[in-house]
Amino acid sequence: MSLKIRKKVWRDKPRVGPETNNINLDISHRCTLLCSACGRQRDYLDKGLKVPGHDMTIEEFHKITDFFSTVTCCGQRSDPVMNNNLPQFISIAKSKDLYLQINTAVSHRPEKWFRDCFDRFGRGRWTFGIDGLPKDSHKYRINQDGEKLYKIMSIASSMGIECVWQYIVFRYNENDIEEATRMSKDINVRLELQISNRFLENDPLRPLNPKYNGDKNSEDQRYIAS
Ligand SMILES: C[S@@+](CC[C@H](N)C(=O)[O-])C[C@H]1O[C@@H](n2cnc3c(N)ncnc32)[C@H](O)[C@@H]1O
Ligand code: SF4
Repeated sequence: MSLKIRKKVWRDKPRVGPETNNINLDISHRCTLLCSACGRQRDYLDKGLKVPGHDMTIEEFHKITDFFSTVTCCGQRSDPVMNNNLPQFISIAKSKDLYLQINTAVSHRPEKWFRDCFDRFGRGRWTFGIDGLPKDSHKYRINQDGEKLYKIMSIASSMGIECVWQYIVFRYNENDIEEATRMSKDINVRLELQISNRFLENDPLRPLNPKYNGDKNSEDQRYIAS
């Protein structure tokens, strides 16, 4: 099977859904994973520093969301499912008819907790970071149970939620893209390849294929496998 890769710089073009008046929030300061190129590690934990911040309160979420039509719970230093208030945030977003985007890679929450979040969900999209075949994604996403998260993503999709499978290309997964494409079709989610530009010199995670190496002088670029 041949794979068509279409270059897409997502900051330049609106994605599906209203992109205007969008805010990207770190709604926590915590994460159970230890992805080596994350700002948590590079800017704080590797230097022996604590990641600053706190879990956003319901009151704070209410206040901020009055000013935006799209709210993205991704952030740069944390994972949104770490905040115990996330189910309430989802209900608040729905009550205000906001377009809510959630980017997560953390898998420790019980299935029941995720189902509750999906039940409450209104307009928006969930993006799950599973880098490689679910059985292998923990090689970068240290502490992640990729097979569990793939199942959670399939539940969200079966409940009618638009889901994106975000797949950062690394050396250990660069030859598994066709299989992942099939697995994404099986559960009706879109596979989105991310070409990382965060590799260090002689980085063992760097893909061998140059087309999967991002330019370190540019912002992260996204690609879609179709
Ligand atoms: C701090 S994370 C927050 C969201 C969530 N915890 C996650 O990892 O998807 C912010 C973004 O950094 C991305 N990211 C992590 N490691 C990366 C890498 N090596 N190269 C490019 N992007 C990376 C994540 O996939 C996510 O989209
Ligand atoms: S899951 Fe996201 S926030 Fe957590 S360490 Fe990985 S990249 Fe950072």
